[in-house]
Amino acid sequence: MRIGFFDSGIGGMTVLHQALKFLPYEDYLFYADTKHVPYGEKSKEEVREYIIHAVEFIAKHNVKALVIACNTATSIVIEELRNLYSFPILGIEPAVKPAIDNMAGRQKKVLVLATNLTLKEKKYHDLVQRIDSEDIVDSLALPGLVQFAENFEFNENRVIPYLEKELSSFDLQQYGTVVLGCTHFPYFEGILRKVFPEEVDFISGSIGTAKNLKRILESKKLVNQGTGNIQYFKSGIEVQDSFSLSNYQKFFQILDGYYAEN
Ligand code: SIN
Repeated sequence: MRIGFFDSGIGGMTVLHQALKFLPYEDYLFYADTKHVPYGEKSKEEVREYIIHAVEFIAKHNVKALVIACNTATSIVIEELRNLYSFPILGIEPAVKPAIDNMAGRQKKVLVLATNLTLKEKKYHDLVQRIDSEDIVDSLALPGLVQFAENFEFNENRVIPYLEKELSSFDLQQYGTVVLGCTHFPYFEGILRKVFPEEVDFISGSIGTAKNLKRILESKKLVNQGTGNIQYFKSGIEVQDSFSLSNYQKFFQILDGYYAEN
C-alpha cells in the first residue's frame, strides 16, 4: 500500500520532497488537481466539491494514509475528510505557532503569506486568535506566486517586481519571521530572501507534516519497504512516468537551491 498526496497543483511536491527524506522507501501517489488550480481564489463551496471528488478517486487506489499537502484544502475540508475515511489523513497549516515562538524576546513581528481562501477561513482566524496574544501576526495573500509556480516561472526578474508591488505598503523591517502558509511558496524562498531583510527567518509547515506522517505510520505499524515509486495524477489522469519524473527532479532542484532557469 502507498501514501497518497493531494494538492491543487505542484505545491504539494514541496511536502512530498520532505516526506521522501523521512520515508524514502515508501511508495507514493501524488494527485494534483491541475484542472482546478488555483483553489485560493475560488469559493469555499466550489473548492470543497473538487477536493471531495479527488479524494474519492485517491481512496480507490490502495492508500494507507493521505496527506492533504495544500493549506487551502486543509483549512476548509480536513475534518470532513477525516470523518469520511478510516485511513489517517494529515493536513498542513500555516506554521504560526513556531513563528510566534521564534519571535520570543526579539521585538519583531510575524508575516503570514498564504492564499486568500486560507486567510479568510475560520480555521486560520481561530488559530491566530488563540495564540497571538501580543498581536504580532500580520498576513498577506500572494495568489500570484501560485500562478508563477504552476506556470513554472521561477525567474526572479518576473517574481521580484510582483513581490515588491504586493509588499509595498508593508514596513519589512518590522518582521522577524515569515510564514510560508501555502505549499506553493517554498519554491520562492530564495527569491523572497532577496526582498526581505537578511535576518528574517522563513518557516513552512512541510517538515513538521513529513515528521508527523512518519510518526503516525510508525505508531500504526504502517511503515513498509516499498521502492520509493511515485505515481502521478493530474485531476484523475495518470501522467507518464518519464514526463513526471523529469519534473520532480526540477522541482526538487529548486527546493534544494540548485536549479537555475537558464
Ligand atoms: C492554490 O491552489 O491556490 C494554492 C493552494 C495552497 O494553499 O497550497
